[in-house]
Amino acid sequence: MNQSTDRQERRIDAFFSTPAARADRWRALADAAKAWASGSSDRNGFERALDEVAAIEEFHAYPGPQLMQALRHRAEANDAAGAAELTWRISTALLSRSFRQYAEDWDPHAGIAEAVGNVLPPSLSRVEVHRPYFEVLIVTGAPPERWASIRTEWRHMRRAQDDFIYEPVIVGSAEDALCATMLNPDIAAVMINEGFAFRSRHDAPVLRSVVDPMAALEPSDMSALRLARVLKRVRPELDLYLLSNRQVEEVAGGDAADLVRRVFYAVEEPLELHLAVLEGVRDRYDTPFFDNLKKYAQRPIGTFHALPIARGKAVFKSDWIRDMGEFYGPTLFLAESSATTGGLDSLLEPTGNIKRAQDLAARAFGADRVFFVTNGTSTSNKMVVQALMAPGDIAIIDRNCHKSHHYGMVMSGGQPLYVEAFPMTEYSMYGAVPLRAIKKALLALKAEGRLDRVKLLDLTNCTFDGHVYNTRRVMEECLAIKPDLIFLWDEAWFGFARWSPFLRPRTAMGAAAAIEEWIRDPGSVEAYRRHRAELGADPSDDVLLETRLLPDPSAVRLRVYQTNSTHKSMSALRQGSMILVKDVDYHKVEEQFHEAVFTHASTSPNQQLIASLDVARRQMELEGFGLVTNAIEIALMIRREVKNHPLISRYFRVLGADEMIPEEYRQSGYADFLAPDANWATALTAVRDDEFFLDPTRMTLVCGTAGYDGTQFKNLLADRYNIQLNKTSRNSVLLQSNINNTRSDVAHLIRVLVEISRDIDERLRNGGDGERQQFQARVKSLMTDVPDLPNFSCFHAAFRRDAGDITPEGNIRSGFYAAYDAEGCEHIRLADAEIDRRLRDGPDLVSANFVIPYPPGFPIMVPGQVITRETIDFMRKLDVKEIHGYNAVEGLKLIRPEALSKVSSR
Ligand SMILES: Cc1ncc(COP(=O)(O)O)c(C=O)c1O
Repeated sequence: MNQSTDRQERRIDAFFSTPAARADRWRALADAAKAWASGSSDRNGFERALDEVAAIEEFHAYPGPQLMQALRHRAEANDAAGAAELTWRISTALLSRSFRQYAEDWDPHAGIAEAVGNVLPPSLSRVEVHRPYFEVLIVTGAPPERWASIRTEWRHMRRAQDDFIYEPVIVGSAEDALCATMLNPDIAAVMINEGFAFRSRHDAPVLRSVVDPMAALEPSDMSALRLARVLKRVRPELDLYLLSNRQVEEVAGGDAADLVRRVFYAVEEPLELHLAVLEGVRDRYDTPFFDNLKKYAQRPIGTFHALPIARGKAVFKSDWIRDMGEFYGPTLFLAESSATTGGLDSLLEPTGNIKRAQDLAARAFGADRVFFVTNGTSTSNKMVVQALMAPGDIAIIDRNCHKSHHYGMVMSGGQPLYVEAFPMTEYSMYGAVPLRAIKKALLALKAEGRLDRVKLLDLTNCTFDGHVYNTRRVMEECLAIKPDLIFLWDEAWFGFARWSPFLRPRTAMGAAAAIEEWIRDPGSVEAYRRHRAELGADPSDDVLLETRLLPDPSAVRLRVYQTNSTHKSMSALRQGSMILVKDVDYHKVEEQFHEAVFTHASTSPNQQLIASLDVARRQMELEGFGLVTNAIEIALMIRREVKNHPLISRYFRVLGADEMIPEEYRQSGYADFLAPDANWATALTAVRDDEFFLDPTRMTLVCGTAGYDGTQFKNLLADRYNIQLNKTSRNSVLLQSNINNTRSDVAHLIRVLVEISRDIDERLRNGGDGERQQFQARVKSLMTDVPDLPNFSCFHAAFRRDAGDITPEGNIRSGFYAAYDAEGCEHIRLADAEIDRRLRDGPDLVSANFVIPYPPGFPIMVPGQVITRETIDFMRKLDVKEIHGYNAVEGLKLIRPEALSKVSSR
């Protein structure tokens, strides 16, 4: 490996970028082959590039040893043209993924003509039944000379009637097994034969530096079951099979064997292994509801219930709306139904295929149970809040959370105790809530003897802008103060993170699994005993705030809820959402949970939405790892290009972790993905230790430095360049990458940023001093004259009749209903001097409404809140048009002072 490549590989982006880096290496090899064939370079150049490619190719089935060997032979035979032709064929097959379907792609002697057929669209190519393709990793102690025959034996087991087709990838050590599962997203199953080595047979320092900290590999006890545990930690969706020639009955009976799908005696009938592998994949491929819906759509069904659109007869026969039928196609109408029987199921009371689909989702997302929701996470949040909170219960909640949580509090009668996120005033946005603020609130409630009233901690993970909590640490420290606290993590944006080994520990379910494992580990009792001894008999609040607290493993009741907008980050139709539950005391809330579902769910849930949730789960279980790796990779490409492009970087920048997260919350010292010393080891330490971590796929692009406010820039991208995004701040826009993005999208975005930067450059160059001064003034106004962000002030005393003295919770529900009394409310315009007089002399201005400006999108006023000078200043400076809950003509809606005394504590 030459020095520059080595340096590049050590960079975190080079590791994340496995699929793209692989494609780039093949392109480099093709260039080297072409150069050799045309005489502008020599064979050495080709062979060096081939060595580069070969290191990674061992972990993939295609092109495989036979084709790689053929490339080497052509090089040795000085056959430059032959090497170029074969390199071209292989890289084309890799790019088009045609090797998954066409046998001739695997044949070193097939000609170019056959290969060309494979890049044609399927309708022009050969007609064959499409069978999904995957790869099976075989970890073996057999010597490498035997591998070719092992490969052949596996291939011999293929049958025409198999639903799927797969190819084996063989490795001989634990390290290589781990590398393969990290580098090859096509691997869907692993056969672990006992007797494999620990260390890779290659000198692979770069890969090792990546893999060791993630898996904590220990050479001393690398049994097959230990390897299974390590692989499951990296990719929990993989089916693992164990082949042992010892006492398999004993192995199978042990606890650790839960991780493997089946244990085989090593000399078992090979066809059994083959069938087991196919069955494992079929288990993930099954989509019980979608499969039934497809069958239902094919049946000749007469409908005598509502939903005339079902079957589409009135659509296709119509002169007037036939275009709708043609646009969506007949299947949509055949699959529409309001029935809950006859092969379908009821979302509200599922007992059949929806129930099975939800159970599969629970398995996939690491939850005990899952509820599908067809009205978005807005509804999921309201369901959870209502199910868990009764009137008078207290929830510690991020003031900047999505409005569904605030409305959930109104409906349930729960009392929000708002905690503030750290502000990012410069960019007119908030970060996330520091753990210290949460612990402080809990300790204050404890001091007041009201800890029993606290039910819930409700936080957004990750935030819109990408701040990811240290979910494990937050839960452990809170459980140390209140062992039965329930957690609601709104992961509307973060559902995909389950499929990244890197981000998973920071998801609600990832952290819950780690805590559960810790509780079960007998060592936790001793760890807790030592921790208590260190804390002493009666630690002060200051000590508790400064200490990393451990919960009492024997007292903890682990109760974790996560909501995710499946439609925001996976392949569900809009509004498809899930509630994930991991709650040891779920049985205590089950009834009320169902009531909450009945309260909020439509009685006419959309069949296509339910099906898409089922299918989204299937996709993530079978290719989520690769797709998410790609989304992260795309984000890092964008970050790198914006940073390094001489023209773009003059006017734009994407904020790094160091600018999005204050240093005090990056305890490991981690600065950013693109920092020169960033590598996987530093990133993994940051993921484990730092209070906040930045989701790489959420990129805050500063556009104020280019003279655009966020809304202007968003409109420019949409109107002129067909690039859509949704969140903006005063001086930035948020770019997100997801599983749908490609490198072409990156190229388009970069071209557009170049074009815009060039326009600005030219304008400034040709516009004279006047233009330049105007530009600088605009940039200054956007970047430095930013309004201070107002913190939550307090609820008025009328809404705090049963609140404590030092904690700020309030009865938001009575504040909300106070607004229903028209006579008890008044309106005052924002610019009216009366506002200033009241702020100065009283009586208090008390908001009757939620007032939520977009952007930034958080409620700067909630019902019952006392309005302060800071809030008014912020509103007056705010230059956005969309402010929910505020009518500029009428003014602020306030609860009259005389009405406040009549407020009941309903
Ligand atoms: C943090 C958060 N939670 C919940 C929601 C609501 O999700 P949905 O659009 O699926 O209703 C959003 C929407 O943007 C959000 O940002």
